[in-house]
Amino acid sequence: MAHFDEKAKPFSNQWMNDRLAVDTVKKVLSTEYWIPKNINFLWAMGMILAATFGLLIVSGIFLVMYYQPDTKTAFDSVNYTIMTEVGYGWLWRHIHGVAASVVFLIIYIHMFTGIYYGSYKKGREMIWLTGMLLFVLFSAEAFSGYMLPWGQMSYWAGMVITNLFGGFTKDFLGGIGNIQALVEWIRGDYVPGQAFLSRFFMLHVFLLPLVIMGVIVLHFAALRIPHVNNQDGEEVDFEKSARLYKEGNKKESEVIPFNPVFLSKDIFVMGIYFVLFFYLVFYHFEFAMDPVNFDPADGLKTPAHIYPEWYFLWSYEILRPFPFNVGLVAFGFAQVAFFLLPFLDRSPNVAPANRRGLFGIWFWLMLIDMIVLTIMGKLPPEGVWNVIGFVAALTFIILFILLPFITKTEKKA
Ligand code: HEM
Repeated sequence: MAHFDEKAKPFSNQWMNDRLAVDTVKKVLSTEYWIPKNINFLWAMGMILAATFGLLIVSGIFLVMYYQPDTKTAFDSVNYTIMTEVGYGWLWRHIHGVAASVVFLIIYIHMFTGIYYGSYKKGREMIWLTGMLLFVLFSAEAFSGYMLPWGQMSYWAGMVITNLFGGFTKDFLGGIGNIQALVEWIRGDYVPGQAFLSRFFMLHVFLLPLVIMGVIVLHFAALRIPHVNNQDGEEVDFEKSARLYKEGNKKESEVIPFNPVFLSKDIFVMGIYFVLFFYLVFYHFEFAMDPVNFDPADGLKTPAHIYPEWYFLWSYEILRPFPFNVGLVAFGFAQVAFFLLPFLDRSPNVAPANRRGLFGIWFWLMLIDMIVLTIMGKLPPEGVWNVIGFVAALTFIILFILLPFITKTEKKA
């Protein structure tokens, strides 16, 4: 050990620095973690996501104290015990349900901010890839949570989604062995039952949250070296600007420290977000709950329409308008397409989409297309809705195929 002050009092600043480098860690992660000045409120979405995830964990801990992962008692433990018997149980459930839905809205805003400003390239690829991994993990977390109340939609959505794996082995692996084998292995039974509920319970309350926490750390670590992008796509000289800031030339410097300067702005935006969030929790929680799921699971009664929660509708609509095996390929394509974005975008320019010619048009078409897919995914697949859904699904695929070509022709800014 280079410097070790034996006279330092236990737990004094010096004593802690000698053992844990507390001051250095504080500088690296907070007071000398430099953020460009020219960024807007959209850059607060990451911290809002982290805070909402925190709220999901806290409310989840309270719910799991009374929830029973048993097919005979799960439905009542949620709809009766938690909602009516446990003091403020309804409040924790509403917070958990609203947060689970709203977190996806924020994830989509965060993703599309990244796409609009080109924050996934030039050294920021790992931020994007870990972000996409978080998207997949959050999707799995939401799906597994949806199984737990063991209502009609839990049961039938569980049935439909696990069936997709059967289609995959049957149509693409040449029906290796018994085509139902993979589906049964995932379910632990022929149909969703106790084994299914137990394993999704384990995934939801233990394994997935643990992995999500690890990947959030990785996502933050991936941000540390390239730093966050800014709203002009300007290449900031962080070392020079940090020096200027520390010398007191704050006006000339292009950066501010994360703590306390940028954090105060994050907290301001977060304050507005939480006012809206708790408005939903107290007055409009029903939007986050499917009425069909207030009927207990019944394996003999299929609901008239089975559809996923709003945040999965766009990818569901890419699956639905095609024949089953073509739909599966399209669905698989949609899942990986966003992961590949940093490599499909061939332009070296990091700039807002509206300054990138054809890419600007691509961006808005993609956003509108995903909204159309989401709306169509909720409507029954009949008549004109089916046609619009089909065109929107094709448009999604074509847009991704075109991306490398249109970005390759983009002039270097
Ligand atoms: C769900 C949990 C997530 C958390 C807690 C999280 C957190 C953060 C934070 C705190 C930042 C820095 C500030 C900001 O730009 O907002 C950030 C940046 C970023 N995140 Fe996420 N994020 C999450 C998911 C995602 C997803 C799903 C994507 C999309 C693939 C993504 C892509 C990015 C990108 C590209 C940046 C860099 C932005 C820039 O450089 O301007 N993140 N994230």
